[in-house]
Amino acid sequence: PKSIRTKINKLLPLRSKRVHVSGWIHRLRQQKGIIFIVLRDGTGYLQAVLSGQTSQTYEALTLTLESSIELTGTLQEVPEGKTAPGGHELIVDYWKVLGAAPSGEEAFANRFNEKSDPSILAELRHFVIRGETASSVLRLRSHLMSAFRASLVEANLLEVTPPCLVQTSVEGGATLFALKYYGQTAYLTQSSQLYLETCLPSLGDVFCVQESFRAENSHTRRHLSEYTHLEGELAFITFDDLMTHIESIICSTVDKLLADSESAALIKQLNPKFTPPSRPFKRLAYTDAIAWLNEHGIQHEAEDAEGNFIRDATGKPIMVDHAVGDDIAEAAERRMTDILGVPVFLYGFPAELKAFYMKRMPGTGEGGKVFTESCDLLMPGVGEIVGGSMRIADHDELLAAYKREGIDPTSYYWFTDQRKYGTCEHGGYGLGVERFLAWLADRYTVRDCSLYPRWPGRATP
Ligand code: 4AD
Ligand code: MG
Repeated sequence: PKSIRTKINKLLPLRSKRVHVSGWIHRLRQQKGIIFIVLRDGTGYLQAVLSGQTSQTYEALTLTLESSIELTGTLQEVPEGKTAPGGHELIVDYWKVLGAAPSGEEAFANRFNEKSDPSILAELRHFVIRGETASSVLRLRSHLMSAFRASLVEANLLEVTPPCLVQTSVEGGATLFALKYYGQTAYLTQSSQLYLETCLPSLGDVFCVQESFRAENSHTRRHLSEYTHLEGELAFITFDDLMTHIESIICSTVDKLLADSESAALIKQLNPKFTPPSRPFKRLAYTDAIAWLNEHGIQHEAEDAEGNFIRDATGKPIMVDHAVGDDIAEAAERRMTDILGVPVFLYGFPAELKAFYMKRMPGTGEGGKVFTESCDLLMPGVGEIVGGSMRIADHDELLAAYKREGIDPTSYYWFTDQRKYGTCEHGGYGLGVERFLAWLADRYTVRDCSLYPRWPGRATP
């Protein structure tokens, strides 16, 4: 009889029909003249049985892992006492190899394993993503992006696609990748924020999902040179509205993922202890965080005036307490979130630590430090996953901010114009998708949360 072509995740309703499925040999096992294949087609895994019923059984002994193959047969419930993915197996009556994978020294199984050196795993990322864990993370990532988009659209934000090639810096010149651009210099974008701000009078509240680039020489488990940046910008809001919005987008996204059986199963597989965060998120003022760190004996490495770490005579770093004005470095931030164990908004950072565009906190600065209406959302196990702020809305104040930071305002004319032609109180945020996924799926490093991660020195495959 003729067979129906299908994908593994659409097989079940076709039980008792003759079907054919194409995929890759994920696992292979022989037992007394019977060959068991676990077939993988991206949508799922299917156990298939090649037994004496087919004249091809003998030839099947030459099958190799990761060969692509088409299997034709009928789906059956697995006999009692045996297991198979989904509780079903395909009884194969005909098969055809489409692309044989090598055997012997070059066999897939000999190329790498989980214990291979990280540099080999990076080189062979195109193979690693065929694995069960890596592909589950990428599959969850896809669900995550859909859930984010749905949550943002529900919150009345419109999606736009800003450019990656830019001639302005958002987060400071130190982390810009520069490139030649028709006789000029252009940069890879660090953030689409400035463009989102220009959309407010045109489209209302907006968001984007765009690659951002950071030329940071950071070899940490949470830094990439290129990452997926989800950014939102909202008009006519207060700082409090901004934090409430960020919190509700995150909670709504998590709720959607848990409500969908496939993404819920992926979260359960990757992060069995996951519990959705409860609202409202804890909010901790920067100055209180400094006091909290000192109460908990969490220190940081002392630096000299140039920002170089000071060592003692034996070469060990000298540790000192935190003071107001200090940056809260990754190590301290991580220890804090690990102790607190819940999402925390750190807010009100000193202006000197933050970007030029951030709105000053009312009532600060007279004779003391200037603090900003800025917030970082920290998650246990990862640390900062969101950075956001209210923006300077006043024209002259923005000009003063350029000057203070030594920024030439010429190329920012279009950004300045926003303050000249109908300014408004507004604010927004950027969320690092790989960091969010590392939290959600309990991955040790953001490198496992990107399809082809880029970090200093790596842009292959
Ligand atoms: O805190 P950042 O630098 O903020 C901005 O770029 C703002 N202009 C965003 C905005 O307000 N629209 O970056 C935002 C987030 C961080 O919280 C972090 O999650 C992620 O982007 N991020 C990185 N993720 C991976 N690798 C890096 N090198 C990252 N740098 C920032
Ligand atoms: Mg930040």
